[in-house]
Amino acid sequence: MFKLIIVALFVHEIAAFCPNGWFEVPQENSCLRVEDQETSYTQAIRSCEKSGGDIVKITDAFFNALVTAQGLSALNNRLIYIGVEKLPDGTWIYADGSFLSYQKWKSGEPNSAYGCAVLDPRSGSWQSQSCDTASPYVCQMPVQANPTGPSTTTAPNCKDGWKAFNGYCYFVQNFTLGSDGLWASWTPDDAQEQCQMRASSLASIHSDAENSFVNDLVASYNVLDQTQHVPSGTGSCGYAEAWIGLRAYPDNTTSWVDGTPVDYSHHVYFPINDETMAFGILNDKSCYTDWNYWSLVKLSARFVCKMKPF
Ligand SMILES: *[C@@H]1O[C@H](CO)[C@@H](O)[C@H](O)[C@H]1NC(C)=O
Ligand SMILES: *[C@@H]1O[C@H](CO)[C@@H](O)[C@H](O)[C@H]1NC(C)=O
Repeated sequence: MFKLIIVALFVHEIAAFCPNGWFEVPQENSCLRVEDQETSYTQAIRSCEKSGGDIVKITDAFFNALVTAQGLSALNNRLIYIGVEKLPDGTWIYADGSFLSYQKWKSGEPNSAYGCAVLDPRSGSWQSQSCDTASPYVCQMPVQANPTGPSTTTAPNCKDGWKAFNGYCYFVQNFTLGSDGLWASWTPDDAQEQCQMRASSLASIHSDAENSFVNDLVASYNVLDQTQHVPSGTGSCGYAEAWIGLRAYPDNTTSWVDGTPVDYSHHVYFPINDETMAFGILNDKSCYTDWNYWSLVKLSARFVCKMKPF
């Protein structure tokens, strides 16, 4: 059965609705590209984006079979990254942040000790492995409207779920419920790792205009009544902040985790501690008077990522 599928893919490649080296999957309206080179999960995501696509998103059994067939024929049965990863609260999601609409774990999987999923082409089923392990991977892009090939002149847009501002794309991780019924919270390092998995970094802010944009963006992912899902004693404003990328050090210096210069600041309550601290952006006027300022926090239920589109 897999051989038949592969023949069908070659026929479509000749029809050239996908760029060179990509196979059309008409049922998915997508082009696929199998990458033989072994890299970490983060590098796989970056590399797919550099080639104009995204890491594959397997949404049904048919598509899973296709990727399995590709793995069998092209990758010598090696395990393949498939764009499925684990949140710190244990939820497995697609690389674009959406919940899994299809999953095919081996029995006993996923193992919560690992953060990434790989497909085993010998069985077509998924297992977990460390995101640092080097593996081949599969990229995907929508079929190109122009049969002569992809347009190379159009400016890159922000991906689904990302918002554009002044040449960058921004993503807000919204509130998610943990298994304990409370909002899942992130340390600043966890949040930065999540942004890096999306080929981005916690947001740096360099002007009033950008601060105002990020503030509005965070406010659009607000929950008016937080009281139901915060730890007891936290209060209704417990998770009013969302992480941005500013860190503060005991010598009173600050830096952005994306390495850009600290050429603009909008913070309050600094310095207050003798250890490295991180800032969140506030977005709730009812919680604080300094509502669009940055403050030092320990945990936050949301964060803002920023990327330069490729
Ligand atoms: C963010 O999550 C909250 C809580 O689940 C929900 O009420 C709200 O609609 C979400 N906002 C967006 C923009 O998705
Ligand atoms: C940091 O700033 C605070 C308040 O201005 C000051 O008391 C403290 O001595 C400073 N620490 C260093 C290492 O400069």
